[in-house]
Amino acid sequence: MSDSMQLIPAEYDFVVVSNRLPVDRVTDSEGVASWTRSPGGLVTALEPVMREADGAWVGWGGQPDLEIEPFENNGIHIVPIALSASEIEEFYEGFSNDTLWPLYHDVISSPAYHREWWESYVKVNQRFADAAAAVSAQGAVVWVQDYQLQLVPKMLREIRPDLTIGFFDHIPFPPYGIYSQLPWRTQILEGLLGADVIGFQRVADAGNFLRAVRRLTPFVTKNPVVEVTSDSQQTRRVIARAFPISIDAKGFEELARDPKIQERAREIREGLGNPRTVMLGVDRLDYTKGIGHRLKAFGELLAEGRIDVQDVTLVQVASPSRERVAAYMQLRDEIELTVGRINGDFATMSHTAISYHHHGYPREEMVALYLAADVLLVTALRDGMNLVAKEYVASRFDDDGVLILSEFTGASDELKKALLINPHDIDGLKDTMLQAIAMPKKERQARMRSLRKRVNENDVARWSSNFLKTLEQARASHNGDETAMELPDELEWTVDRRWTN
Ligand code: G6P
Repeated sequence: MSDSMQLIPAEYDFVVVSNRLPVDRVTDSEGVASWTRSPGGLVTALEPVMREADGAWVGWGGQPDLEIEPFENNGIHIVPIALSASEIEEFYEGFSNDTLWPLYHDVISSPAYHREWWESYVKVNQRFADAAAAVSAQGAVVWVQDYQLQLVPKMLREIRPDLTIGFFDHIPFPPYGIYSQLPWRTQILEGLLGADVIGFQRVADAGNFLRAVRRLTPFVTKNPVVEVTSDSQQTRRVIARAFPISIDAKGFEELARDPKIQERAREIREGLGNPRTVMLGVDRLDYTKGIGHRLKAFGELLAEGRIDVQDVTLVQVASPSRERVAAYMQLRDEIELTVGRINGDFATMSHTAISYHHHGYPREEMVALYLAADVLLVTALRDGMNLVAKEYVASRFDDDGVLILSEFTGASDELKKALLINPHDIDGLKDTMLQAIAMPKKERQARMRSLRKRVNENDVARWSSNFLKTLEQARASHNGDETAMELPDELEWTVDRRWTN
């Protein structure tokens, strides 16, 4: 532990650890730096818990060599972790996003295995664990987020056995046949098993994890529990199960009800030449999102004359992501070439085929786009959850709009009334796009009402409270309360269901 870490008082009862902080560092035109809240659902969900429980958030500020002392931001104690330029290359761009990300997403792109990247991953995970250990009060709850930090639970438990530790995996956990490629597969499992509760998006992800534990460790699993035995023959019970994440559904609906945002939605449609149907795609520019498959289907429908640019426009928002990783650079070239070709072939002076935007937009503009879109296209080849699908549904308080949703997203486990598609089946996708365009209002409303019920009931506050309740029970059982390992009733459905992979 570094000297500066030891100066931070260990006083926080609830500590979140994630690769990125919930605040972004922005520098204005005069070079003055400040922090703005990033609009993610996780912050919204955890903010009340943070305020109530004296919370701290440990994470990276998003730029190289940012050595900043901890500070307060809107009631959250922020603990920035510094990453050097070479750690960004090896830990973040390398092991996290060019090894684990493609491996965990069904090897859509080939994972690269480099021993130096792994060493950097171990070193940086240790830094996060040290910082979390330093700020946590005696007996605190620490919640570690996502694939960049899978070694932190074990490292943290070694320094601070008094803590209750949760881990949530926001991305898929792959089937054993794929996971077993990883040269450090056992170390990662051991890292995760340092937690008391390990959460996954889908029942299938938890199943994949438990299967990997059975194949690679001596520990006994009794779904959803893993019995982790230490060298001294003491047994610790770890819960590994699904807790599907969600969004701040009320927040999206509130924005959608704002007359200014509704006016903006009308403006957007007008700007597109008032086509009968606006289709929308909103994604990080990532090869897991199936943007190319969607463009292919749309281009073929135009080429076959089954749709016309006068009537149908596709708006594609592709927000920049991980731009220094080669697979992402190549993807951008491919997508932009395809968009250019389709527009070149089919756009007229008054109507464009695809309105393409390589930007991120503020939440207000996104909600205006959701209101402007008759059809939302989610064609991911693999996606832990896909929150865009849930945001669209939450925004459509008018009970209108059609959601086309890939069955390879976590969201498809819940959003059964969407038009579910296999994005690899281009003919099927084309037929579904036409079905969405032609869907009668009554059917659109019936489907959207059912989708909205689901999203409103299972919002992100419910997700975090379910996870934290389970973590509380794990803590109580460590303290000798034997009845405490029974799961809360509302959680049992995910345990009872068969694994679906
Ligand atoms: C996914 C991951 C997050 C990550 C986000 C943005 O949603 O699950 O952990 O923060 O993508 O990616 P980035 O690499 O920019 O943090």
